Amino acid sequence: MQERTIWWEEGGIGLIDQTLLPGRYEHIVCATVPRLVEAIQRLEVRGAPALGVAGAYGVALACRRALQESPDTFRQSVQKDAGALRSARPTAVNLAWGVDQVLAAVMEEDEPVAAAELARSLAEALADEDEAVCRRIGSHGAEIIPDGATVLTHCNAGALACSAWGTALGVIRSAVADGKDVSVISCETRPLLQGSRLTAWELARDAIPVTTIIDSEAACLMQKGEIDLVIVGADRICRDGIFNKIGTYMHAVTARYHQIPFYVAAPKSTFDPSQTVGEVVVEERGRDEIASFSGVRTVPDGVPVRNYAFDATPFDLVSGIITEEGIITSPADHPWLLP
Ligand code: MRU
Repeated sequence: MQERTIWWEEGGIGLIDQTLLPGRYEHIVCATVPRLVEAIQRLEVRGAPALGVAGAYGVALACRRALQESPDTFRQSVQKDAGALRSARPTAVNLAWGVDQVLAAVMEEDEPVAAAELARSLAEALADEDEAVCRRIGSHGAEIIPDGATVLTHCNAGALACSAWGTALGVIRSAVADGKDVSVISCETRPLLQGSRLTAWELARDAIPVTTIIDSEAACLMQKGEIDLVIVGADRICRDGIFNKIGTYMHAVTARYHQIPFYVAAPKSTFDPSQTVGEVVVEERGRDEIASFSGVRTVPDGVPVRNYAFDATPFDLVSGIITEEGIITSPADHPWLLP
């Protein structure tokens, strides 16, 4: 996949609408911060690094709007929009990180027009850097993929979840670019199907062999010896564990039972050593995502559902974290992971 997932254009922030894939490939333009917040909450744009880029561009959008108001209210107005962006989704730390990267620079600049230009150029640089980081993650990670490997992944940690290239899928793309024969088992990722809709779509587009399974089939394939390793992305890497899409922990436990290596691929912007797993707000999404399917009711009225979007995998189930600086096999070796 060559194109960017998110970009700046005349009318606002351009996105590939991820809710429509694989049936329809359409671009949308978010012309205002409230529309961008809605796009984040509806998962039109999603995935931790892409949310970081969205947050950065979002501050540039906030600056553009604030310029139309009085110079006296510029800073206050941008800060208010930045707050709305930062809290649009709580778990992926990259969103707040992307907002804060640009906001801090804007607040240092006295002159509103210069601040708005700076915000735009910093957001562009952050988007470029995200792709460069993913490619570095890819080349480090490619080393651990054996030729002929079948890799299981969960959710979508691909180009669609970043500016381009991807983290977990970036590792697979880099291994393929190195000439390795790699095939992917993509878990469908209930309830929003990021695996079957997005991971399968982008890998098939790149002619990388991919097969979709239901999430609960993963253990069966591991038992049959059909999975060589697991690679997933991350939304927040805390001092004591790694948040990723709900179901990741289940795959980590199952992989350990079957002695299959389990790797996480993530940029340093996903690390949050300030928090433990228990301190993080885990997004709980609406009942409808579980209680109906294609317009048909699947849960009786009155029966409650739990719909956590993410779970936490403890480090002792993780064989290594593939970052842009190399592969971490012991968190204690890496100061940014420590309190
Ligand atoms: O709810 P989503 O689709 O935003 O969840 C995304 C994930 O859990 C990804 O695996 C994670 O953000 C890593 S993306 C490189």
